[in-house]
Amino acid sequence: MAKRYLTTPIYYVNAEPHIGHAYTNIATDSLARFYRTMGDDVYFLTGTDEHGEKVGRTANEEGKEPQEFVDEVVKTFRRLWQDLKLSHDGFIRTTDQRHVEAVQHVFQQLYDQGDIYLDTYEGPYCVHCETYWSENKLDDQGNCPECNRAVEYISEDSYFFRLTKYIPELRKHLEANPKFVSPESRYNEVVNLLNEGVQDLSVSRTKFDWGIPVPFDEDHVVYVWFDALLNYLSGIGYPNKKFEDWWPPKVQFIGKDILRFHAVIWPCMLMALDVALPERVQAHGWWTLEGDKISKSKGNVVDPRELAHQFGRDALRYFLLRRIPFGEDGVMSDEGLVELINGELANNLGNLVNRSLSMVEKFADGIVPKPEELETDLESPADFAAQHRQNFIELMEDLKFDRALKELMLFTSKTNRWLQEEAPWKLDREENRERINAILYQLCEALNEISYLAEPVMPETAAEIKKRLEVSEQGNLETRRWGELKGGEKVTIGDPLFPRID
Ligand code: MSP
Repeated sequence: MAKRYLTTPIYYVNAEPHIGHAYTNIATDSLARFYRTMGDDVYFLTGTDEHGEKVGRTANEEGKEPQEFVDEVVKTFRRLWQDLKLSHDGFIRTTDQRHVEAVQHVFQQLYDQGDIYLDTYEGPYCVHCETYWSENKLDDQGNCPECNRAVEYISEDSYFFRLTKYIPELRKHLEANPKFVSPESRYNEVVNLLNEGVQDLSVSRTKFDWGIPVPFDEDHVVYVWFDALLNYLSGIGYPNKKFEDWWPPKVQFIGKDILRFHAVIWPCMLMALDVALPERVQAHGWWTLEGDKISKSKGNVVDPRELAHQFGRDALRYFLLRRIPFGEDGVMSDEGLVELINGELANNLGNLVNRSLSMVEKFADGIVPKPEELETDLESPADFAAQHRQNFIELMEDLKFDRALKELMLFTSKTNRWLQEEAPWKLDREENRERINAILYQLCEALNEISYLAEPVMPETAAEIKKRLEVSEQGNLETRRWGELKGGEKVTIGDPLFPRID
């Protein structure tokens, strides 16, 4: 059984989660579910990033001890993932003892092997992004080029990681593995970053203490990004050998803003540790509200729970993954959601399910007929299902969620059209019984097919379709063959899966 280790970034707990965070986790959840339907063994890890100056300051502003503060905020993340019914297997907090020990172990090892050394850091630092910048990277106003907030100038003793030593090896890896960083635009961005030149990385701070202590120097705490990146290892047991059960990650999902950390610093840390690199670092774009960044300070955070409540969990998941190619930016709007839900989910998919089950009720007393050959010149679902399924699988494997979902829509609309042409309602006479039954069988099996293709992104819809077809087992998408329904299943019509929104 293939092993698939999938990770999300771990989220800062300085504020409550919003739709941008939910996006990454929903995408990862969909891929995890996809691999599970393919019969693979999946470990899906998510978690929270709890140290650093930013979180420490926020706790301070709220008049709380950092630990007390993070213990509270972490609950909102856990609750959100639970409410969205995400299927992660592990949740790592950087304040977990197992993580703290792993980070100290790594720091000590890299120091002992000469890859970490003491020096002084002087220069700009963005607390919001927890990022060191060189002067020449700042924007026109001298602010952080990423978030445009004011930077702070720091000057302190710091341990440095010998990043530069590993850059030639990273270049080679990039050349040999064009999908190591995806999409291509992000791959090119990384190559450009390397061409501009990279410096050793400051990996400890002395001016505050909300962090993991450097094991051999109590004046220093580990730089929050160095600490955070290691969650991907500590989350599956590193340094215990058991981590090799899952390592290396199949896909590491990230937002485009944290590319440099994951595609430059992280692989170099792994090389220093002599641990294999992930197969793919996949960056996605940003969701904005009509062109405006979603952020706490702008007061326009979109609460994913509200959206899920208003439109339905599956519809929200569908929108996020179908609306834009994974990797590009998208604009959130109620109109966009309504348009996609009505157009594709209500009118196409929901309508087919409802019509089909009603017809089985009307023409076959609600019982799926036995499979029979359908003699017809028309291309029927039995003929075109396999091709769409194959396309769907390939596109999902390549994280082309929008196009994979399009295959689901194409299969559905072709089935709707075929049904319109077969028009069983015009054949309702005894001499046509066999023909009607053959059409109804194909229709039911088409719904079964839809439940397979819907499963990764719309798991509740998939389960509901299966339930209405009285199918109790979730089959394997890869080995699935047309004709699984045996006939004799008792169908339930039920309410519309996606009521039209006006
Ligand atoms: N703590 C770091 C990640 C450490 S991973 C070892 C961090 N946290 S974050 O909470 O600020 O952001 C986490 C992720 O959320 C990032 O991948 C970021 O791209 C994503 N998003 C935050 N806002 C977003 C949108 N508006 N749209 C899409 N994703 C966005 O960075």
